[in-house]
Amino acid sequence: MAPIYSRIIATGSALPERAVSNADLEKIVDTSDEWIRTRTGIRQRHIAADGETTGDLAFLAAQRALEAAGVKASELDLIVLGTTTPDIIFPSTACLVQQRLGANGCAAFDVNAACSGFMYALGIADKFIKSGQSKKVLVIGAETLTRMVDWNERETCVLFGDGAGAVVLEASGEPGIYATCMHADGGYKELLWNPVGVSVGFRDEPNHGVRIKMAGREVFKVAVKTLDSLVDETLEAAGMHESDIDWLIPHQANLRIIEATAKRLQMPMDRVIVTVDQHANTSSGSVPLALDYAVRSGKVQRGQNLLLEAFGGGFTWASALLRY
Ligand code: COA
Repeated sequence: MAPIYSRIIATGSALPERAVSNADLEKIVDTSDEWIRTRTGIRQRHIAADGETTGDLAFLAAQRALEAAGVKASELDLIVLGTTTPDIIFPSTACLVQQRLGANGCAAFDVNAACSGFMYALGIADKFIKSGQSKKVLVIGAETLTRMVDWNERETCVLFGDGAGAVVLEASGEPGIYATCMHADGGYKELLWNPVGVSVGFRDEPNHGVRIKMAGREVFKVAVKTLDSLVDETLEAAGMHESDIDWLIPHQANLRIIEATAKRLQMPMDRVIVTVDQHANTSSGSVPLALDYAVRSGKVQRGQNLLLEAFGGGFTWASALLRY
């Protein structure tokens, strides 16, 4: 039997209107534009307005992807949404978006893999298509991470932003996604986490104790090392070499981490999509936002090979190598 591939037929994205510069943050915490730029590459981030939710951004990104694909919401047979900042505890944000799109009836669920959420969602959707279970799938990565940032803590508040991206996948005889990889190691949970919740309980602290805690330097070291082995594994799974990759579309957490991965792949930075300067770290939103930017700006062309990867809390890490 001829293999079935998942093909990305279109992309979409959405950002909150308000952009906040590093200079704006200098007024809130003891930081500087120079410190933020040199350590992270970030120049600005978008921050959701009061009342604007992950689901709102996901819905807009999904609408734009469906419109670009020429696919009606009623044609979808699956929605997978990566997020660690769902609108409410349940129903899932995927269900909320499904209803707003008018795709009622298809399967819809969220995936929480922190910053690897979109890459996990894409890997899962690919398996549904490859198994013959699904033909048209909407995959979304969406976050309002700034809702769980402690605005008094300069170590973390400068790093994050809000946003969403989406892709429409279709079953095809042509490639398509060649390989996806997914991993996790819960042994690292305390290096990057938000340790309150429904079952553990909330705390008698501002924002009920909901805030990101991170050991930045340790996260940095593990991320670089882990992404090195992830790109090796992904190339091997796809039966490809570094030179076969046209574009690296990495998780946008830190420009120095991105540069280290590019170096490992022997790729010049002009073949790497960088949006961290504009968006900061939007967690599950980051890779699909970067992909949509790459497609709509005309950088990525049909027939090119893309390597997508992400790393996040858990730790989790995941990738996809595909022909666009
Ligand atoms: N502005 C100014 N100074 C800051 C600051 C800020 N926003 N945040 C921290 N500092 C200070 C610290 O207080 C510390 O000061 P000290 O040396 O006097 O104690 C110093 O800067 C820390 O420097 P250092 O540890 O060398 O920073 P770094 O080069 O490791 O950069 C990160 C810090 C967080 C940018 C970096 O470690 C990183 O990006 N880690 C990965 C984080 C990440 O990507 N997380 C998400 C993964 S999905």
